[in-house]
Amino acid sequence: MGNISARDRNVVWHPYTPMKLWPDAIAITRGSGAWLIDEKGDRYLDAISSWWVNLHGHSHPYIAKRIAAQLTTLEHCIFAGFTHEPAVQLAERLLQVLPGDMARIFYSDNGSTAVEVAIKMAVQYWANTGQPKKRIVALENAYHGDTFGAMAVSARSTFNASFADYLFDVSFIPTPTPGEEQKSIAALEAILAKGDVAAFIAEPLIQGSAGMIMYSPDALEQLFATCRRHNTLIIADEVMTGFGRTGTLFACEHITTGPDIICLSKGLTGGFFPMGVTATTQQIFDAFYDDDKSKMLYHGHSYTANATICAAALASLDLLLADECHQSRERIIRAHQQFAATISDHKVVTNLRQTGTILAMDINSGENSYHSSIRDRMYRFFLGKKILLRPLGNILYILPPYCITDSELEKTYAAIREFLDNELATQG
Ligand SMILES: Cc1ncc(COP(=O)(O)O)c(C=O)c1O
Repeated sequence: MGNISARDRNVVWHPYTPMKLWPDAIAITRGSGAWLIDEKGDRYLDAISSWWVNLHGHSHPYIAKRIAAQLTTLEHCIFAGFTHEPAVQLAERLLQVLPGDMARIFYSDNGSTAVEVAIKMAVQYWANTGQPKKRIVALENAYHGDTFGAMAVSARSTFNASFADYLFDVSFIPTPTPGEEQKSIAALEAILAKGDVAAFIAEPLIQGSAGMIMYSPDALEQLFATCRRHNTLIIADEVMTGFGRTGTLFACEHITTGPDIICLSKGLTGGFFPMGVTATTQQIFDAFYDDDKSKMLYHGHSYTANATICAAALASLDLLLADECHQSRERIIRAHQQFAATISDHKVVTNLRQTGTILAMDINSGENSYHSSIRDRMYRFFLGKKILLRPLGNILYILPPYCITDSELEKTYAAIREFLDNELATQG
């Protein structure tokens, strides 16, 4: 263990980490392309885009240059009563590419706060328009973040069990996985028929943290259309699915019924900085546009619309919208398809699934929980191969940055094959 790791052990508390069981963090000193380089000089292939945030590679020189230029012009300023070019330009450009009829951009700090803002907008929309709708509906298994509102609309699970008593009541409907579509739609229909639902929130097409659970655009379309029919607001949490992960720029582009609110974060800045965006329609904005101050949205963070972060997001958008990035995403999609075909009959692989650049599978070792030992075995095995894959329980997935090369993908596939063929069979 090097110097940074040793010091870390004494002073730092890491996220989603049982500190007693996993006290040693790998100290990264540099990043380049799809690689993270540690203090000993070991290189790790980042096949999960560092918790799904990185799009174009680490320390990308174009984004870094734009950040540096912004830093020496305006690093940050208060965003209540003041504005700046990067925030306005980012809002203009996001509105051009977002699906649905988005008309306004509200900035916050991360995915969880983007969701908090969405919930507050939806609830207050009905209060401001004098209609008593308060209930939120979400999908079973959902994960929308770790702040209290975001936890409340997430599935009750090991993630939030300690806080269950503090979470407001939410109605959950089954995820419309293949074969469950009608059950899910019927459950939504029944709840919405009561007339008290303010909003329905969903991760479109893929429930990421739940274990890359995938469902079809057709099912999403039917859920959204049901909400539309019942005059219920639709919140699409595209924190993970946004910015190209599902093949289109945003997952909601796979369908025609547009959401009323879209939450963004993660890939928004290319993985350089935290930022949340809650985009919404003119109709929702208008409900807050009033002479009566009690109707405004009482929400804001000290670093709202930080100019340096906006500059990073603008630079990342340039790269994302370039032909080269589009082709890379297509290349990754094809490579995943070809690899998937080679392991589809493997005896321990079930529920092999792909949406866009995300490939996932269940590893059937007889242990399925988030805390199962197969998860730790897989994690350690791949780290030993110098590949960062971070399984969700027994669910193994690849979610690479778009700069990943064919040979880097092949290295990842080969390691997975080796785990399936040899490692799993030989160690207990
Ligand atoms: C769909 C979804 N929503 C919200 C969040 C929360 O984002 P953050 O970790 O930036 O707060 C996540 C994080 O994984 C997510 O996957």
